[in-house]
Amino acid sequence: MKLAVLKERRPYETRVAATPETVKKLIALGFQISVEAGAGDAAYFSDEMYKAAGATLGATPEKTLEKATVVLKVQAPLEDEVALLPEGALLLGLLSPHTQPKLKPALNKRKITAFALESIPRITRAQAMDVLSSQSNLAGYRSVIEAANVFERAFPMMMTAAGTVPPARVLILGAGVAGLQAVATAKRLGAIVSVFDVRAVAKEQVESLGGIFVEVESQGTGETAGGYAKEMDEAYKARQAAKIKETLQKSDIAISTALIPGKPAPRLITKDMVEGMKPGSVIVDLAVEAGGNCEGSALGKIVEQNGVKIVGYANIPGRIPTDASAMYARNLLSLLTLCVKDASLLIPWEDEIIKAIALTHEGKDQQ
Ligand code: NAI
Repeated sequence: MKLAVLKERRPYETRVAATPETVKKLIALGFQISVEAGAGDAAYFSDEMYKAAGATLGATPEKTLEKATVVLKVQAPLEDEVALLPEGALLLGLLSPHTQPKLKPALNKRKITAFALESIPRITRAQAMDVLSSQSNLAGYRSVIEAANVFERAFPMMMTAAGTVPPARVLILGAGVAGLQAVATAKRLGAIVSVFDVRAVAKEQVESLGGIFVEVESQGTGETAGGYAKEMDEAYKARQAAKIKETLQKSDIAISTALIPGKPAPRLITKDMVEGMKPGSVIVDLAVEAGGNCEGSALGKIVEQNGVKIVGYANIPGRIPTDASAMYARNLLSLLTLCVKDASLLIPWEDEIIKAIALTHEGKDQQ
C-alpha cells in the first residue's frame, strides 16, 4: 500500500498534506510513504525530516506517484497532475469541485476515487477529520494578527504617565469557527469586540468569549437544519445594513468571515459604509475567495479607500503554514484510519462521512 504526498503547485499555497509526525503514523497503519522532494519546504518541514520519519523522497511528481494507491493533497491537483495519477488511486484533498468544472471529468477519466474534504459532515464523530474547522480556526486567529500588523495604532488600552491609549474597537462579522477564534484573539490583544451573526445561537457563544453581540431584529433562528446560515430576506438585510453601518463608524477594525455554503459570500460592507469609517481603520475580508463580504476587497491585495485599508489576503491558513499543515495532516490521518483495516485499504462505503465526501469513484460522479 503506497501513499504519495505531492508538493502543492497552486498560487498562495504553502501547506503540505502530510507532516513528519503523520508520516510515522501512516507507516504504522501499513503504508509505504513517498513524499515529493521539497513538498514541505514552505511549511518548514524539510526533506530530511520526512526521511527521518521513514518516507522515501520522489524527485518528481511522476516518481512520487509511481504505483501509489493513495494520494494526499491540500488543494485540487492541476490538470497535468491529474493526468499523472495512477489509475484507480484514492485522492484526498480540498477539491472545490464547484469552482473547477473540469475536475470531475478528468478524475473519472483516470478512474480516481476522489474525496472532497470540505464536505465532511459537521457531526461529532467527524470532528477529528473536519478540515474546514481546523483551517478556519487558524484563519480566524491569523486575521486578527494581520489586522494588528496593518493597523497603525495599539490594540490594548494603556494607561501610562504619558497619558492613556484607548483600546481598539473590533467588529467581527460572522461568528462561525473563524469568527469565534477572531473574537478570542482580539480579546486577548485587549480590544473591545462587537459581533454580528444571522444565527441567533451565536449570541451565547460570542458572549461567553467576552464579545458584545449586536442584535438585529429577526424571526426564526437564521440557520438551516445543518447549522449553517440561511440567506436572509430583504427587510432583514436592510435592518442589518443600518446596524453594521452605525457600528463600523465606531470601529477601528472590521473582520468579516460571513459565508453561506454553495452561494457567493453575503455583501455586508458597502463602499458607502467604508467611507463612513475613520481614516486609519482596517478591514480584513476573510471571505474574499468567495466573492468577498466587503465591496472593494481584492484577492491577494491591500486596497486603500478613503484612508481605510481593506486586506484581501488569499489563503489565510497558508500564512500560518506549519500549524495549518499539522492540523490538516492530522485530519487526513483520522480519515484514513477509517479507511484502513489490517494494513489494507477498505473504504466503508455505507458510512455517512464517506457518502458525504465521495466525489468520483470507478469513473462515475458520486454527487
Ligand atoms: P461558515 O464558514 O459557513 O460561515 C461563517 C459565519 O458567517 C457563520 O457563523 C454564519 O452564520 C455567518 N453568516 C452567514 N451569513 C451572514 C450574514 N449575512 N451576516 C452575518 N453573519 C453571517 O460557518 P462555519 O464556521 O463553517 O460554521 C457553521 C456552523 O457549523 C456553526 O453553527 C458551527 O458552530 C457549526 N460547526 C459544527 C461542528 C460540529 O462538529 N458539530 C464543527 C464546526 C462547525
